[in-house]
Amino acid sequence: MKNKIIAGNWKMNKTRAEAAALIEELLPLVADTPNTVIICVPFTDLDTALSLTAGSNIRVGAQNCHWKESGAYTGEIAPSMLKEMGVEYVVIGHSERRTYFGETDATVLARTKAALAAGLRPIVCIGETLAERQSGRMEEVLTRQVQEGFKDVTPDELKNIVVAYEPVWAIGTGVTATDEQANDAIKFVRGVFADKFGGKAAEELYIQYGGSMNDANAAGLLSMSDVDGGLIGGASLVAKKFAAIVHAHE
Ligand code: PGA
Repeated sequence: MKNKIIAGNWKMNKTRAEAAALIEELLPLVADTPNTVIICVPFTDLDTALSLTAGSNIRVGAQNCHWKESGAYTGEIAPSMLKEMGVEYVVIGHSERRTYFGETDATVLARTKAALAAGLRPIVCIGETLAERQSGRMEEVLTRQVQEGFKDVTPDELKNIVVAYEPVWAIGTGVTATDEQANDAIKFVRGVFADKFGGKAAEELYIQYGGSMNDANAAGLLSMSDVDGGLIGGASLVAKKFAAIVHAHE
């Protein structure tokens, strides 16, 4: 089995002072894990996160980037700006961005391609809503999100991508997918990647689960055959909880 990739998605939380306190507490708690540890922080915390984690095993990610290199795009951040700071990862296409900020499979693809071109590793989020699952459209939605959202991605590029399967109904709701629901959906997604990129590439691809993962349910979820890690929102804001998830399966 692969080591896990455990990523914290801080969303729009933590001032610089709060970020520094959380990272200082987290550093010794996760120093000895074989798993990959990533914190995806607000843009304003990137500098703090990069300097405090320098030389440690914690990698730093942003939560979005634009698809253009530079220009008149007020409020956006170019991938090269992140790369130049030392940022390694970037979350793309989170369901909150799809819901509140008009992200589509096409913009997800454009941002992913630009991030890859700049040398960043995208963590690309996909997942169905409750209505889609209940009306039996889960597989159709996940297939579309992979086929459209990864349309021009090359097999070589895929090696630098992490996928996060995050059922929208489980995000921030306290309702977690069961171990089996998470594993079955990720297996299905892996099959769609296999159709597009071949079996070996799909097997090597890291696919995380995200949605109310916490210190109590992480061990079960992460022990499933196809769950290669977690993307953690709420619980990543508390050092001890996030550290417990990091260590839940190693
Ligand atoms: P949550 O968020 O863990 O708070 O449900 C997960 C995510 O949105 O990545």
